[in-house]
Amino acid sequence: MKKNIKDRVEIRNLLVTGGCGFIGSNFIRYLIKRDDFSGRIINVDKLTYAGNPENLADIASDYKARYIFEKVDICDIDKLEEVFKKYNIDAVCHFAAESHVDRSIKTPGNFIQTNIIGTFNLLEAAKSRGEMFCLFHHVSTDEVYGSLGAKGLFYEDTPYRPNSPYSASKAASDHLVRAYYKTFGTPVTVSNCSNNYGPYQFPEKLIPLVILNALDGKPLPVYGDGKNVRDWLYVEDHCEAIWTIMMSGNIGQTYNVGGNAEMENILIVQMICDILDEIKPPADGKPRRNLITFVKDRPGHDRRYAIDFSKLKKELGWSPKESFKSGLRKTVNWYLNQSKWVANIRTGAYQSWMEEQYGS
Ligand code: NAD
Ligand code: DAU
Repeated sequence: MKKNIKDRVEIRNLLVTGGCGFIGSNFIRYLIKRDDFSGRIINVDKLTYAGNPENLADIASDYKARYIFEKVDICDIDKLEEVFKKYNIDAVCHFAAESHVDRSIKTPGNFIQTNIIGTFNLLEAAKSRGEMFCLFHHVSTDEVYGSLGAKGLFYEDTPYRPNSPYSASKAASDHLVRAYYKTFGTPVTVSNCSNNYGPYQFPEKLIPLVILNALDGKPLPVYGDGKNVRDWLYVEDHCEAIWTIMMSGNIGQTYNVGGNAEMENILIVQMICDILDEIKPPADGKPRRNLITFVKDRPGHDRRYAIDFSKLKKELGWSPKESFKSGLRKTVNWYLNQSKWVANIRTGAYQSWMEEQYGS
């Protein structure tokens, strides 16, 4: 069995799933501009509420020969097989997922379909390419490991203990990826990453939700006591970690990815309020911290996540570049400067734009 990408053929036709979402669109923008990748990117996305082609409008017009979009649901195996054949797919970077924990509590069925069945379909389509296929990179989450107390870290060999329908469905997909490697020899790598933040994140997630609500003078909902801890990673650092693993990671291996930035939720909300007060002082002169509202806790809310990413650092030389302080400021500025993107998301205008472009 080939050990890593250096022993493999060059990737010519990379299928990226979920490329119109937050991390997927950042990854496509990052990769297509790199000097060490000259292949084509075929972006397969169902365009759910979280998929927004506007995230890649500039890439679609600047890289016509190397960027292709296909509106496909990964739960549709026939369409997937067609795409694999049509574009001679030789590698996959798999982002597509239902990704929001709160939604998984309300509508878990979509998570089972997309995250488990969709991943299974992709593995089958990859398997059917036989020797032509060189790499399946699976993008996963630290949430599969469950919740930590005040101390400790998640390691690659920490037992899986998912607590939400979202994390359980991601755990199932991780197991399928591993099983295809062990049973069929599918060349896979897996990354389990902590919370991402940065440009193009859909404003249901904590950081963009708080930025936009604070700008509108709306309540800033903090679940429970606000002392749950997450580790935060700037999205471009995550993109670099994924490409590093795809290029140099050992086949069959899992790599944890983290930001070295553990933070209580309440502190993040306060930091956003303070940055906004400084850059865009509130019209009524009242500090935005006054908008913070403690609300009912999320059921099964994991208390703390913290990542040990020393394997990725030692073996492949990756470390995060952005500090949380500078990354958060950049992110706040991005949302302040993207008034059209924000307005489209808020009014749902981009949904009708998508229907016009791609049908319902
Ligand atoms: P996102 O919700 O912003 O984007 C998901 C994308 O997948 C959207 O474009 C959506 O249209 C597409 N999609 C959903 N169902 C599909 C289907 N059935 N067929 C085809 N496309 C479909 O998600 P994100 O935050 O960018 O996360 C991307 C991946 O990274 C996910 O697998 C997630 O589990 C993982 N991850 C996310 C984070 C984070 O903090 N956001 C951290 C670690 C891992
Ligand atoms: O850890 C990686 C995971 O991070 C990814 O796998 C998920 O796809 C991604 O959504 C994210 O999950 P979280 O549940 O940690 O992210 P979220 O932004 O929803 O919440 C972050 C923390 O903030 C969490 O402790 C819940 C809390 N929260 C969230 C929202 C939306 C609030 O207190 N108020 C809120 O309104």
